[in-house]
Amino acid sequence: MRTATIAINPTALTHNLNQVKKLAPNAKVLAMVKANAYGHGIKTVLPALQQADGIGVASFAEALEARQLGWDKTIGLIEGVFSASEWQQAINNAFSCVIHHTPQLDWALENVPPVDNPTRQIWIKYNTGMNRLGFNDEALILAAQRLHDAGYQLILATHFANADDRDHPLNTVQKKRFADMINYLKNTISPDIQGSLCNSAGIVNFASNHYDWVRPGIMLYGSSPVTDQSAADLNLQPAMDFSAQIMAFQTVNIGDAIGYGSGWIAKQETKTALVSIGYGDGYPRVINGDAYVCVIDTNSNQSYVCPVRGRVAMDMIVIDISQAPTDIALNSKVILWGVMPHVDEVAVHAGTTGYELLCRLSARPERTQV
Ligand SMILES: Cc1ncc(COP(=O)(O)O)c(C=O)c1O
Repeated sequence: MRTATIAINPTALTHNLNQVKKLAPNAKVLAMVKANAYGHGIKTVLPALQQADGIGVASFAEALEARQLGWDKTIGLIEGVFSASEWQQAINNAFSCVIHHTPQLDWALENVPPVDNPTRQIWIKYNTGMNRLGFNDEALILAAQRLHDAGYQLILATHFANADDRDHPLNTVQKKRFADMINYLKNTISPDIQGSLCNSAGIVNFASNHYDWVRPGIMLYGSSPVTDQSAADLNLQPAMDFSAQIMAFQTVNIGDAIGYGSGWIAKQETKTALVSIGYGDGYPRVINGDAYVCVIDTNSNQSYVCPVRGRVAMDMIVIDISQAPTDIALNSKVILWGVMPHVDEVAVHAGTTGYELLCRLSARPERTQV
């Protein structure tokens, strides 16, 4: 049987959450589980993140799924709702919403939830420089005042555009705007107003800016959020093992090409193995010539680093096993990403990020837990 497997490691998820808590000991944690928990599967991930104070999702359907799965703490809708009727449903399901533009403000002011309903907690989004979501200064102050007067509890929230690059000049600007605004709101509206600034990269790079809530995403899944430190440097463990199996062997003669486009030509006789994985499963088609996989030979239990040769097809890739000293067994496990290679490394070879590779996995691979 063709096997491609996504195995999730709940212990690694819990470990990574604990790393967040060590880095931000005084902040509450809104664990980001949008996009099906960055491709890991929300159902598998939630039990491992029980010690988070809340979870963040991007869509109403994701929020409903998390509630149906039994998550009874904060569920934050990071883009808020998209209509007045969705606002009512947010109240019905006790979701906590971002308000980032005037229509959402109007829906919230027209329909204020009961006192003990968690929808009374609003993440009011401040545009500090990313220019995507959020109110600018004057509108923010006005909106905050009106929401406070209507009985809402406020968390001032913003999002870094470049937190992965510690020295990017916009970081300083965003941090200063945020600090000035939260001080102003605390002094003029209510000292109880909370703050939330940091995603994973902010948590790592800006320890003095954690405020009341941090919002880690990618680091929970074991990828590095920053440009100058690896996941291992940050003591993060990959939560996903993406693997397939060797389905056949070939020997390619000198001068012969492999796969579609015939772009890779053997300079010497090359022992290859065919692996049951492709872009139809979520392995990127656009990898460069340095991409490799790790084969674990079923017979010897030895691991071998094997380069990928030729184009990635929908269902198959070809790998070079010439360096393996002995014959590798048919059906041996091939790790596309996991501990080695790490998804961040594959992402470099694909000209993208770990975020994209994880989120783009298809429905075809079997999903399990380790
Ligand atoms: C508002 C907000 N906060 C936090 C995050 C988590 O970011 P990261 O995965 O980089 O930690 C995201 C992700 O895009 C986001 O949009």
